[in-house]
Amino acid sequence: MEALGIDVGGSGVKAAPVDLDTGKRLAKRLRIRTPQPSTPEAVYEVITKLVQAFDWHGPIGCAVPAVVRGGVVYTAANIDDSWIGTDAAGDLSRLFDIRVRVLNDADAAGIAENVFGAARGLGGVVILLTLGTGIGSAIFSDGELVPNTELGHLEFKGGDAEDYAAARLVDSGLDQAAWAMRLNEYLQHLETVLAPDYFVLGGGISKNFDQYSAAFDTRAAVIPARFRNRAGIIGAALATKGPT
Ligand code: BGC
Repeated sequence: MEALGIDVGGSGVKAAPVDLDTGKRLAKRLRIRTPQPSTPEAVYEVITKLVQAFDWHGPIGCAVPAVVRGGVVYTAANIDDSWIGTDAAGDLSRLFDIRVRVLNDADAAGIAENVFGAARGLGGVVILLTLGTGIGSAIFSDGELVPNTELGHLEFKGGDAEDYAAARLVDSGLDQAAWAMRLNEYLQHLETVLAPDYFVLGGGISKNFDQYSAAFDTRAAVIPARFRNRAGIIGAALATKGPT
């Protein structure tokens, strides 16, 4: 079985076909810059271009940076506010005349890591964080996802946690070591409220994990994700096997 995985991010919309039995991408991923304003209509146009570029007619999974319940988008932190209340799964399914599964991007990344990546086989409570424009979260309890957690928006240090510890701060000039100390404080805070057994850190910055991992001082083990920023695409594709 194959599915097209699409990952809508704050800066780019990425897609690739994925083999659902191995989690491997079947073609090089394509990326189109996220349109601004990133309204549903503008993003649907970009998604259409990607679907056409792969000449895709099979199942499609789409990850978005928002709370998604039953295919409907409920929040919009790093995408246009007009997504709120949009039935994205309904719209995309009509557009492509095939059932499209829409889910939160960090949940998608978590699914990829859980099925084929760094979280595979881990028991207990696992918190996966995607570190990028924002901070996304996926919590697994003995391999079962608790969907739509938004740990990046916990109030921390007087503001939104993602404004304090997201990896975008490094892109905008914060020293990596200073960022890692901030991230450690945030992980310690999460540990006091959720007592996980593992943290899995994803997002593009996880490729530099060895450069900053010494900053972490938590009881839970902190491990790098396997698929980094490919996890959203892989997880979105895998989610097409899910129920809604
Ligand atoms: C959004 C989450 C998303 C995360 C990563 C946050 O700002 O609220 O839904 O998972 O960014 O993209």
